[in-house]
Amino acid sequence: MIKIESLIKSYGPHKVLKGVNLEVKEGEVYGFIGHNGAGKSTTMNILAGLMDFQKGSCFVNGISVQKENSETNRDIGYLPEDPKFYPYMNSWEYLRFIGSMSGDTKKQIKEKSEKILDMVKLLKSAKRAIGGYSRGMKQRLGIAVAMYNDPKLLLLDEPSSALDPAGRIDVVEIISKLKNQGKTIFLSTHILNDIERVCDRVGILNNGQIVLEESIDKLMKSYIQPVYDIEFDTDLNEEKIKILNNVDYIEKVNFEKRSANIWIKDFRQNSVNLIKLLSDINIPIISMNLRKNSLEEIFLKVVK
Ligand SMILES: Nc1ncnc2c1ncn2[C@@H]1O[C@H](COP(=O)(O)OP(=O)(O)OP(=O)(O)O)[C@@H](O)[C@H]1O
Ligand SMILES: [Mg+2]
Repeated sequence: MIKIESLIKSYGPHKVLKGVNLEVKEGEVYGFIGHNGAGKSTTMNILAGLMDFQKGSCFVNGISVQKENSETNRDIGYLPEDPKFYPYMNSWEYLRFIGSMSGDTKKQIKEKSEKILDMVKLLKSAKRAIGGYSRGMKQRLGIAVAMYNDPKLLLLDEPSSALDPAGRIDVVEIISKLKNQGKTIFLSTHILNDIERVCDRVGILNNGQIVLEESIDKLMKSYIQPVYDIEFDTDLNEEKIKILNNVDYIEKVNFEKRSANIWIKDFRQNSVNLIKLLSDINIPIISMNLRKNSLEEIFLKVVK
């Protein structure tokens, strides 16, 4: 759905994108991550045909994106970083304004608006002036506007970043619904927790290039730490501690009275061995967790 090849963009002497390559497949939710000023909004503005670039190419649905050529935009809905609305209009009026620009009839506008406002949970507040909306409501209206023409691809620039936890959950829910409708979604965010919940794949933009592009599943697996945090039902005695200390595939053990952290070598091969061993030496276990890195920790590791 999106293909970006060797994209180069500078603002005067300031090089922002230094050969970006990425691909977003149809039906995928792709999380575009990068620190402040990495070039996320620049990339999105280029994809939306709002900005020129110096070198490389961008394709949406196989068509080359060119600034101010609206051909690719027929398939795109765009939520900019800081969406602006006429504050004196209400949501019905604003969508009517958008619909009339699209050439829709009054009947079509009403039907489409009702459906979309319902999806973003704004039907009840649709007659209130937008100027009085909370940030979360404005963001949801922004998504409604991006969705108005039922585009195949949605570009969402930081859809949840300025919102409180409840507002973020609303946005993540809407993104999940859109994903279930088969939309392709390219979204940027700093809130990596949200990305973990809703994205299929992520790309990390750093220093003008994509330094890592991977499915969330694979990423979590490849950055897994081979440490088990275990809580026991009884105190560990000397004998059992001795056994655990003398196993060749156990790299390190920290003991507390009723808990242990066990680092193992070759996680894939030895995790089963460890569970067998614990069962053999007959220590009742309350909980056993494999320590995982959060996406935030992975991001910091990759970027540093
Ligand atoms: N119109 C512009 N003129 C000059 N420099 C710009 C312009 N727009 C962006 N920049 C610079 O380009 C770099 C990338 O900006 P961009 O807004 O794309 O980053 P971003 O990843 O979206 O950041 P944020 O997370 O803060 O939204 C920044 O250093 C920014 O200052
Ligand atoms: Mg930005």
